[in-house]
Amino acid sequence: MTIIKNLMLPVLATGVILAAGTLAPTAHAAPAKAKFTSDGAVKMPVNWREWVYVGTPLTPNALNGGAAAFPEFHNVYVEPKAYKHFAKTGEWANGTQIVKELVSVRENDNDPNTGASMEVSGQGYFMGEFIGLELTIKDTKRYSDQPGGWAYFSFGHQPQPYNATAEAFPAEACNACHAANAEGDFVFTQFYPVLRAAGK
Ligand code: HEC
Repeated sequence: MTIIKNLMLPVLATGVILAAGTLAPTAHAAPAKAKFTSDGAVKMPVNWREWVYVGTPLTPNALNGGAAAFPEFHNVYVEPKAYKHFAKTGEWANGTQIVKELVSVRENDNDPNTGASMEVSGQGYFMGEFIGLELTIKDTKRYSDQPGGWAYFSFGHQPQPYNATAEAFPAEACNACHAANAEGDFVFTQFYPVLRAAGK
């Protein structure tokens, strides 16, 4: 018995150390890296609809003089490893990618004033088609000229296919509004219940 106990203990201890060793890197995993062309443009991410969905602000064109800056629904997704890091630490790691995909309001005899349609669940706004894709990347080295290291991109305000690559906008076009108005390190966490819940 004593021999078995003596043998078992080190085995158990090693098992625990191994388990802790494999858990720690997962919990603090670095965000998956964005891909770039040789001249520094960012490539459109793949499978962003499988990233962590955090919320959908809605600025219907019909309520914004027919032309909202970011029309209709804005579905926001965070790259999963960046999300894990945020949930663990409350901070956005270098390399974080967040996309916002624009989705039109469904066309179905919409009210000309509000843009709403009447569907089986009631009057309101229902999702139509994908109409645009934007991305932000935090990288304080690559984008040291952008406040906070956050660079902003658009792969087009158009139905798919979106553009394959995008150049960073100048800071005054995008970053400045985020810097002034977003509550969570340039990210609009005040509009994303999933991030507010995760950050606690
Ligand atoms: C006038 C202010 C303003 C400007 C300018 C602006 N944004 Fe935003 N952005 C917002 C708001 C508000 C949100 C929160 C979600 C929403 O309403 O779409 C947001 C959210 C985002 C998100 C999702 C992640 C986050 O930070 O919340 C991306 C990606 C994004 N914007 C890209 C861009 C790009 C690209 C540009 C420049 C072409 C830009 N934004 C310019 C106000 C702005």
